[in-house]
Amino acid sequence: MNTKISPKLSLFPLTAEVNSQGHLCIGGCDTVDLAEELSTPLYVFDEFTIRHKCRQFIAEFHKYYPNTLVIYASKAFLNRALAALIDQEGLGLDVVSGGELTIAHSVDFPLSKVYFHGNNKTLEELELALDWNIGRVVVDNLYELELLDKLAYEKGIKQDILVRITPGVDPHTHKYTTTGTLDSKFGFPLATEQAEEAVSQATSASNINLVGFHFHLGSPIFELEPYRLAIELVLSFIRQMKRKYSFQFDEFGVGGGFAVRYSLDSKAPDVAEYAQAIAGKLNELIPQFELDHPKLIIEPGRRIVAQAGVALYKVGAIKEIPGIRKYICIDGGMSDNIRPALYGAKHEALVANKVLEEEREIVTITGKLCESGDILVSDTNLALVFPNDIIAVPGCGAYSIPMWSNYNALPRPAITMVNEGKATLIRRRETYQDLMSLDTI
Ligand code: LLP
Repeated sequence: MNTKISPKLSLFPLTAEVNSQGHLCIGGCDTVDLAEELSTPLYVFDEFTIRHKCRQFIAEFHKYYPNTLVIYASKAFLNRALAALIDQEGLGLDVVSGGELTIAHSVDFPLSKVYFHGNNKTLEELELALDWNIGRVVVDNLYELELLDKLAYEKGIKQDILVRITPGVDPHTHKYTTTGTLDSKFGFPLATEQAEEAVSQATSASNINLVGFHFHLGSPIFELEPYRLAIELVLSFIRQMKRKYSFQFDEFGVGGGFAVRYSLDSKAPDVAEYAQAIAGKLNELIPQFELDHPKLIIEPGRRIVAQAGVALYKVGAIKEIPGIRKYICIDGGMSDNIRPALYGAKHEALVANKVLEEEREIVTITGKLCESGDILVSDTNLALVFPNDIIAVPGCGAYSIPMWSNYNALPRPAITMVNEGKATLIRRRETYQDLMSLDTI
């Protein structure tokens, strides 16, 4: 046995350690015991890591730009427990649907700190948002602007909005998650003068109060330059607009997109580097453009929860095709993590019950779904694996859970939150009965 601990441990939650049995522990809990007690697939969240990331964003941005509001992009993962935790940490929330809004409302999340995004908010969703006095609606298009103005008029209120600008900046990420370029379904493009049309209409609408602007370039963004470039383009547009139209520029949202290190061969900027780049550009240009310093809004999603979440699976069948490949089959797959199949996302893995054993075999970890593309981790180096071993996949806290499906009628996994040796179930495993519970016949 080789007792060198795998460098992969650095991709796991901040509390990850190995106990005397060679088992992976998170938040003081033995993951092999958790898998035994709660069954698999199991998603484990480390409370300490989530809280640490929230505090890190607040501290780093406040250092360079004190008037910053950090709002968590709840599309990365939201349930009641997490919404309550995010509130405790003092962050606001970015929601994109009536569903996310309702989850937040159900735990008394302060809705004045909720920002409603999305390119096709329905009448019912906007109505809910207004009835609950949501802080800001981030208006995406003219159809929405008119709808919102009419609704606000009917309800006798004036709704604060940000206008979402599409700056025409490529963040160099996957094309499915690129939003800042001209050919995007999101926002008002600068290049076509539709952005000016939005300002003109928003400032003349009777029940709309334009308080600022927003852009989001894409996700994940590994470079700093796209943020700087977009800030310059949008601020210069705001300067022009302020000369022509009358409004108070109080808020400036620069979106999310803060990248995460999913694999050993990748590197993401530190939160401090993002903060310096964004705040630095703002502090340089705001006085130059003779604007007052607005409140800065940032919307990290992935970077708050990705590292905190670990997926645990049990190994079943093992298929070795001599000279070709060894497949390790696990009891979940693309139904609980579509990211590798959809975006070619790369994960690493460890054998949770053999962390101290030498990793000496290249294998491919595949799910149990009826598709050949159901590969979770390709060609990865693992300790010798046998049926019933537990595979732990780090970096599963963001976007895996909200994109879960019941493909092949697999019940969705349970989620547990661990902290200081205690595990709290925050979502129970679905049952076969649950799968039929909405059928009416
Ligand atoms: N703000 C807006 C307006 C967004 O659309 C998003 C993400 C964020 C903030 C948060 O971005 P983050 O900090 O999490 O990178 N399903 C994909 C990611 C889709 C991101 C959608 N919008 C994935 O699994 O990689």
